[in-house]
Amino acid sequence: MIDLSMQYLGVKLSGPIVVASTPLSESIDNVRHMEDAGASAIVLTSLFEEQLALESRTLDEDLSRGTESFAESLDFLPELSDYRMSQDGYLEHVKRAGEAVDIPIIASLNGATPGGWVRFAREMEQAGADAIELNTFALATDRRQTSAELELQLLELVGSVCSAVRVPVAVKLSSSYTSLPNLCARLEDAGARALVLFNRFYQPDFDIETLEVRPSLHFSTPSELLPRLHWAAILYGHLNGDIAITGGVHSAEDVLKAIMAGASVAMMASALHIHGIEHIGRALADLRYWLDKREYATLAETRGCLSRRSVPDTSPYDRGNYIKTLSSYSLRQTLAAF
Ligand SMILES: Cc1cc2nc3c(=O)[nH]c(=O)nc-3n(C[C@H](O)[C@H](O)[C@H](O)COP(=O)(O)O)c2cc1C
Repeated sequence: MIDLSMQYLGVKLSGPIVVASTPLSESIDNVRHMEDAGASAIVLTSLFEEQLALESRTLDEDLSRGTESFAESLDFLPELSDYRMSQDGYLEHVKRAGEAVDIPIIASLNGATPGGWVRFAREMEQAGADAIELNTFALATDRRQTSAELELQLLELVGSVCSAVRVPVAVKLSSSYTSLPNLCARLEDAGARALVLFNRFYQPDFDIETLEVRPSLHFSTPSELLPRLHWAAILYGHLNGDIAITGGVHSAEDVLKAIMAGASVAMMASALHIHGIEHIGRALADLRYWLDKREYATLAETRGCLSRRSVPDTSPYDRGNYIKTLSSYSLRQTLAAF
């Protein structure tokens, strides 16, 4: 039997497929179903900074210190509160999920600015969370805010969550940073034990009839995996902590690519919404079949084999790739013309 176990956040997981943060895990039946299908850990749906600030009645304080983006995002809260659990409900859910399954339960906090709300990470830990995933979705909309300031804010936030808890903290990052290797190294110094690549960039759509800007959420396609593979492959070997990939993981092949790039685990959300939770079991069976055919004894031995530090030609990961890709396209076009 092929050994699919992988090490993530200091724990040996039974396999590489982790359920990404999604409302699917808001049902305890689903949580059990995920474990039965072969998920090796589950990231619960997020609690939001804005929601915590409101519920804790520290809103005035937060607003007086807060950012414009924080105030703007409060406009969405009526919808958010329909969709999300209350603080107490969330803690109860962490506890019940932990009791229902043997695999690690990772609670998720979602916010952008340092503040009192991060103390909630400790309550998640006390409720039984095995780890915390901190989703740090932030957008620069103010021309006075520099990238250095945004990064410092992020580091401060991560540092304050990491010092509030003993369980490991994974940081779910956006890809829109100028020097990811440098930022990731500093995030590790701030206490992050894993980096989750990447947050999806939910871009609002325009309704040109009503002249409205609307939030839009589409499930991912496997093409979203490519930038994640690229960055994981660049980061692998330069970090002490783990890498997780979320975004575009739909099949066994995608999971393998993630591990070969250097990730310890691959997370699935859209694929489970589209194909059902049992899809995890099918992907694991395909993964075993593929490894068996090629006489691998363990999945772990494939980790990082296509990372930038492992391949003889690093140009696909560097600027050389840009030039090669563009020139190969014009060559094909030219040949097609004959
Ligand atoms: C319906 C839905 C709800 C989501 N809610 C959260 C959330 O609360 N917190 C979070 O960090 N990510 C959330 N995500 C993002 C997923 O965790 C995941 O990172 C993203 O969908 C990319 O993975 P995928 O390609 O497998 O869908 C959500 C995704 C979906 C589809």
